Amino acid sequence: MKLAVIGGGSTYTPELMDGFARLRDELPLTEIALVDPDASRLELVAGVSRRMLARAGHQAKVVATADVRQGVEGAQAVLFQLRVGGQAARAVDETFPLTCGCVGQETTGAGGLAKALRTVPVVLDLAAKVKEHAPEAWIIDFTNPVGIVTRALLDAGHRAIGLCNVAIGFQRRFAGYLGLAPEQLQLGHVGLNHLTWERAVHVDGENVLPKLIAEHGQAIADDLHLPLELIERLQAVPSYYLRYFYAHDLVVEEQRTRPSRAAEVAALEEQLLKLYADPGLDTKPEQLAKRGGAFYSEAAVALIASLLGDRGDVQVVNTRNNGTLPFLADDAVIEVPSKITKAGAVPLPVEPVEPLYAGLIAGVSAYEELALQAALYGGADRVHNALLAHPLVGQEAIAAELTALLLEKNGGHLSW
Ligand code: G6P
Ligand code: MN
Repeated sequence: MKLAVIGGGSTYTPELMDGFARLRDELPLTEIALVDPDASRLELVAGVSRRMLARAGHQAKVVATADVRQGVEGAQAVLFQLRVGGQAARAVDETFPLTCGCVGQETTGAGGLAKALRTVPVVLDLAAKVKEHAPEAWIIDFTNPVGIVTRALLDAGHRAIGLCNVAIGFQRRFAGYLGLAPEQLQLGHVGLNHLTWERAVHVDGENVLPKLIAEHGQAIADDLHLPLELIERLQAVPSYYLRYFYAHDLVVEEQRTRPSRAAEVAALEEQLLKLYADPGLDTKPEQLAKRGGAFYSEAAVALIASLLGDRGDVQVVNTRNNGTLPFLADDAVIEVPSKITKAGAVPLPVEPVEPLYAGLIAGVSAYEELALQAALYGGADRVHNALLAHPLVGQEAIAAELTALLLEKNGGHLSW
């Protein structure tokens, strides 16, 4: 089978190749098309990708192209992993909100809105080409902000599912604490992309989360840079993106004195590209582990294998709510365990969500709806309204200032 990767020149691609090589029985690929407009990056990334597959004895052909049509034609699945404006635009997302006392983050708050505005139109154009040249293909979206982008894709009628590595990361970590294989754990994962909580961890029908918190709470809290008291209070494990809510002002203070994550990643990418240029490199370099994308190849392989193989197993994905969380609109996109078959993803029923989480989920989901309106139709008013609705902004004067800054700094990327 053929798979296409839009944004194939990403420095993350060797992470995917590593997974494709290890999991080849699950996903017998014959061709991988890496599609990217940046020819020099693409050449380096395609080179190391070919060497990695060859070393692993994998037969798949790697095609590198800037031509979306050539890349997607004949593909059964298309991964979207692009970043409009690169790390430079991300650096802006991570810094401009700080001047208003708001968190600077690429998917959360005003920075996330800026990213959505830049990204949604580009993704929709690409998806239209997928529909034209590979109408049966599944679009697997890793492109952030995943919740908003997935909703845009579904609203436009595409066969799309959004994916993130937060859930698979917790599954692996908890399995390590318990000395079990990851597949033995089912997560009670609930919320929106980058706004989720693990409310239960089931092993053979038993919820072992209280035991995990009792025995490993401190390690879990340290990983998330959140206080143990919070995890004990919730008796749930929030994703590390919840730190931007639960410790907002502290994060702003930290961000004011540190280089942005974008600057760190840009430096790392420079190193990685140098390594990829070495004709002797035929494995995933260890520096790649410094990026946030651990296990994302596993998540992608598992999802594609279940979609194409009609496996009917349960995976955590981003898909339509359709009544699963009754306090959200049916067409909202949520991130929950879902049954994956050739017809797509269907969320499993979710235990009633406590007000402690439901209010925040509802607020951010409303923001996402307004953010998508702004991304689709443009205009300062739509941007301002999305910020007013965001639980981390809310105040009129701050929303006004952030709107002006966002528009000023993203003008080159916005077509309206
Ligand atoms: C995690 C998130 C991704 C995000 C990444 C950032 O993997 O789930 O959505 O893109 O972190 O990692 P980076 O190395 O770019 O900071
Ligand atoms: Mn993610």
